[in-house]
Amino acid sequence: MSAERAELRERALAAISAAREPSELARVEREFLGKDGALGKLLGSIRDVPPAERKAFGEGANELKRALEAALAERRAVLERERLAAERTDEHFDATLPARALAHGSLHPLTHVVRRLEQIFSSMGYAILDGPEVELDAYNFEKLNIPHDHPAREMHDTFWCDREQRLLMRTHTSPVQIRALEKMPPPFRAIVPGRCFRNETTDASHEHTFHQMEGLVVGEGITVGHLIGTMKTFLREVFQQELEVRLRPGYFPFVEPGFELDVRCPFCAQGCSVCKRSTWIELCPCGMVHPAVLKAGGIDSQRYTGFAFGLGLSRLVMLRYGIDDIRHLMGADVRFLEQF
Ligand code: PHE
Repeated sequence: MSAERAELRERALAAISAAREPSELARVEREFLGKDGALGKLLGSIRDVPPAERKAFGEGANELKRALEAALAERRAVLERERLAAERTDEHFDATLPARALAHGSLHPLTHVVRRLEQIFSSMGYAILDGPEVELDAYNFEKLNIPHDHPAREMHDTFWCDREQRLLMRTHTSPVQIRALEKMPPPFRAIVPGRCFRNETTDASHEHTFHQMEGLVVGEGITVGHLIGTMKTFLREVFQQELEVRLRPGYFPFVEPGFELDVRCPFCAQGCSVCKRSTWIELCPCGMVHPAVLKAGGIDSQRYTGFAFGLGLSRLVMLRYGIDDIRHLMGADVRFLEQF
């Protein structure tokens, strides 16, 4: 019996290595391992084997089956390699080299943060507004209570597009406050994420193009309490912890009273490089909308009050990701962007 098996093994291996085509290989496989194949016949003859030898016989047959399957797989791989090699027309072409990885895009860190903020504020009932980046002096300054000769204009190093038409690149997102007041009947809540521009010398914390997110809430009986509550809620969502805030007086012509809102450093307890060892981080200017602004937007300032804030988005992104130079954000350096 084992002689028969050895003969079968030899015949099968010879047929396998002689196969030149996958189809031929498949035929050989059927011939030896198929339903009515030679190996099946051999196994069938177990009936003629004395019972005492049947176990050894069965094991031998199974071993042969595994050996033939391995030989088939190996031959199949050889034929595939030969086929690829035959397809080569260029001798320098190596079909076995791994493929070049496909570069895939990713979202800008600013986009990540804006999307998160939009989620948070939408869940609090805020509308998401947009406004023109090329703006009229009237919206960027005048109606925001910054008249022509107001010294506050000097803080806004303005890029003028057309001085005669009084057209400029908006220096903040606050002009959209006026546009919202003109269009939306109170009560309403809105945020305005967007690009702003200032004609400044650039350094690690100044860039000519940067991002802000304006917030504006108008209604009857809106107070500083609502402002603080809103900021605390939003900070809890962003930093996933309860953070203390404080208000310092701040001056902006379009809010009264105006504040600088600081938040307790989420990264340390006793002072670190982010909070400059003070445990407080300056988060954003804010305040109660000045009655003159409400009037300029056509709102009854006797009946309605509101609050506004101007989040420095670029700053927030830098805080969130530990980025030390604002110029990275607009720098379009793929090595930087790929990290997010
Ligand atoms: N628009 C102001 C700036 O960019 C910030 C601000 C917005 C202040 C809203 C108060 C209220 O300087």
